[in-house]
Amino acid sequence: MDFQLTEEHLMIQKAARDFAVNELLPGVIERDEHQKFPAEQIKKLGELGFLGMMVSPKYGGAGLDTISYVLAMEEISKIDASASVVMSVNNSLVCWGLETFGTEEQKQKYLVPLASGQVIGAFMLSEPEAGSDATSQRTTAEDKGDHYLLNGTKNWITNGNSASVYLVMAQTHPEKGSKGINALIVEKDMPGVTIGAKENKLGIRGSDTHSVMFQDVKVPKENRIGEDGFGFKFAMKTLAGGRIGIASQALGIASGAYELALKYSKERKAFGKEISQHQAIQFKLADMATRIEGARLLCLKAAWDKDQHNDYTLSSSMAKVFASEAAMWVSTEAVQVHGGYGYVKEYHVERLMRDAKITQIYEGTSEVQRIVISRAILS
Ligand code: CAA
Repeated sequence: MDFQLTEEHLMIQKAARDFAVNELLPGVIERDEHQKFPAEQIKKLGELGFLGMMVSPKYGGAGLDTISYVLAMEEISKIDASASVVMSVNNSLVCWGLETFGTEEQKQKYLVPLASGQVIGAFMLSEPEAGSDATSQRTTAEDKGDHYLLNGTKNWITNGNSASVYLVMAQTHPEKGSKGINALIVEKDMPGVTIGAKENKLGIRGSDTHSVMFQDVKVPKENRIGEDGFGFKFAMKTLAGGRIGIASQALGIASGAYELALKYSKERKAFGKEISQHQAIQFKLADMATRIEGARLLCLKAAWDKDQHNDYTLSSSMAKVFASEAAMWVSTEAVQVHGGYGYVKEYHVERLMRDAKITQIYEGTSEVQRIVISRAILS
């Protein structure tokens, strides 16, 4: 067992940290307040290779391992979780799914621009009545011979407006349940695609979350990913990797909040000494650091499993449930350490606390992760 990061890992971690501090920190409070998508910053992230980190250079990616991805996600999320969710969806849900299951033609046409960040992608599984219960898809993809006719509504779509390539799950054979679902590549400008209103969210307010409607959208058959009926398995396999991304986002939110609390505790004085000299604060810092370390180890273990081609369904769900709960707890304690200052925007911790909440909800709620974990340990 080797807990040492390589030179390359350390370089990537530093590059992500520098980018976050120099490019994302300026304006992060305003973007959150005004729900402004970090378009310029995402473009630069793409140019640096952070949007297709694990994609082979053959398809325009950076060809890095999942450990590198975890390290970069943590650093970006410490500063701006709205930017890191764009990065996570594009890397794990869109690029990985296309590279692993797409045809050569699909990769050339869609993966190359996605991996190099020229365009960004969205993953569309959730519906008004199919969130955790993802098999209950109401969106239909009717088989019309050379194309599918797509009808329905997708909800809570990250990159809903900014993405131009969508991976859409839809039901073709309702009588077959989860085995009747297909995954289709849909372009934003196909006739019949409409973007719904932007959600006004508690956190990750810089990311654009929309509903997306499909009305009689003709999707060519060659845009189906995998065999007929592979869509649900495609979504589940893709989400297992996505959960490593969101676990790392949660880890970053937690470590960002902790670093701010630690710094503040050494500056702020109360009762004649720095508050870090009070045991009440010391115990909070100790618990924060311990939970973060646990979350980091679980994220890196899941990433390692993926890089070793081990089954990572269990480890990614464990990482996600633990890291997201750590993020919520640590960021709330970070606000507490800051006292009244923690409750105002300038000190960043209130934003991190709001951002933390979504990590317990998207890409499978904490309850869904517990379903996945308990099934694995009981099977
Ligand atoms: N890998 C491969 N196959 C899998 C799988 C996996 N990880 N998980 C399930 N499957 C297969 C099963 O083996 C089964 O196939 P067979 O019938 O051949 O055995 C089939 O898929 C159906 O599986 P289940 O019976 O387990 O399905 P279920 O209805 O009981 O649901 C669930 C299981 C875990 C709750 C699942 O529905 C789930 O993960 N729900 C949450 C969905 C989710 O994460 N949504 C997030 C939306 S995307 C998002 O948030 C992105 C964003 O914007 C940031």
